[in-house]
Amino acid sequence: MKEIKLNDGVEMPMLGLGVYQISDLRECEKTVLTAIESGYRLIDTASAYGNELAVGNAVKKSGVVREKLFITSKLWVQDAGYEKTKIAFEQSLKKLRLDYLDLYLIHQAVGDYYGSWRAMEELHREGKIRAIGISNFYPERVADLVAHNEIVPSVNQLEVHPFYQRFDAQRFLQKKDVQIQSWASFVEGRYDFFNNGLLTSIGRQYDKSVAQVTLRWLVQRNIAVIPKSVHKERIIENFNIWDFELSKGDMDAISTLDTNASAFFDHRDPEIIARWAKRKI
Ligand SMILES: NC(=O)c1ccc[n+]([C@@H]2O[C@H](COP(=O)([O-])OP(=O)(O)OC[C@H]3O[C@@H](n4cnc5c(N)ncnc54)[C@H](OP(=O)(O)O)[C@@H]3O)[C@@H](O)[C@H]2O)c1
Repeated sequence: MKEIKLNDGVEMPMLGLGVYQISDLRECEKTVLTAIESGYRLIDTASAYGNELAVGNAVKKSGVVREKLFITSKLWVQDAGYEKTKIAFEQSLKKLRLDYLDLYLIHQAVGDYYGSWRAMEELHREGKIRAIGISNFYPERVADLVAHNEIVPSVNQLEVHPFYQRFDAQRFLQKKDVQIQSWASFVEGRYDFFNNGLLTSIGRQYDKSVAQVTLRWLVQRNIAVIPKSVHKERIIENFNIWDFELSKGDMDAISTLDTNASAFFDHRDPEIIARWAKRKI
């Protein structure tokens, strides 16, 4: 497994398992166990996914020593602010049955996330979080956060996939030494993604699937990935991307699929911000 060194020196696997929308706790536990048995070491959960308990159970049952795993969770909007972040972090740790997190992210740039960041900086210094980061922060929000705080986020988890390629954001984040991790690498299967003509024909040349071509395209762009699947054969397929390399011509061809727009929603849309602000978990 390829690892990447984050700006604080922490090594993070380039590929892990995402567990969004696996709300059945038994299914989530089984999925995480299958992934760990298949070689995955990074699991990406969030308090908002409601499945930290299941991730914690799977981690304990896996028998893999804690230091070999990389566990990420995220702080939801209702817990933004200095004091609330400290409480929410302890709750996540308890559910996960862990005594530290490898990566803790502010899920959305909404609410008092400056207070959250100060709490996270302290938790990082106390050794309770190895790396601290953000998610869904557009470049101007990152610039502002960096300008007014001591620690530069190590990761920004963003929607990045062939239909929304984010080259501008990547150029900016590279300058700040913030690592991108892609969410919805497969656009969650929307727009008939797995039958995309170009990605299918590129895959044929390498004997790889659309999923594998997409993940390989992302890691070749130096973007970390956390594909989600509850199916063992797909979990294994998504992990099997290290034995081929896309040519420059194929990388360039994939860039023609960019629509330069989110396939879901714009996190800067006032209605979306109002929705996140109201959502209780
Ligand atoms: N920070 C954020 O705001 C944010 C937002 C969304 C997601 N995330 C994180 O990113 C992770 C990944 O994103 P996502 O779950 O939204 O979507 P995704 O990984 O783009 O797509 C998941 C979908 O693709 C299917 N799939 C997976 N592998 C496949 C394969 N090899 N062939 C065919 N179908 C396949 C899955 O089906 P099956 O499960 O049925 O196999 C599922 O329907 C999440 O789980 C979560 O951890 C973060």
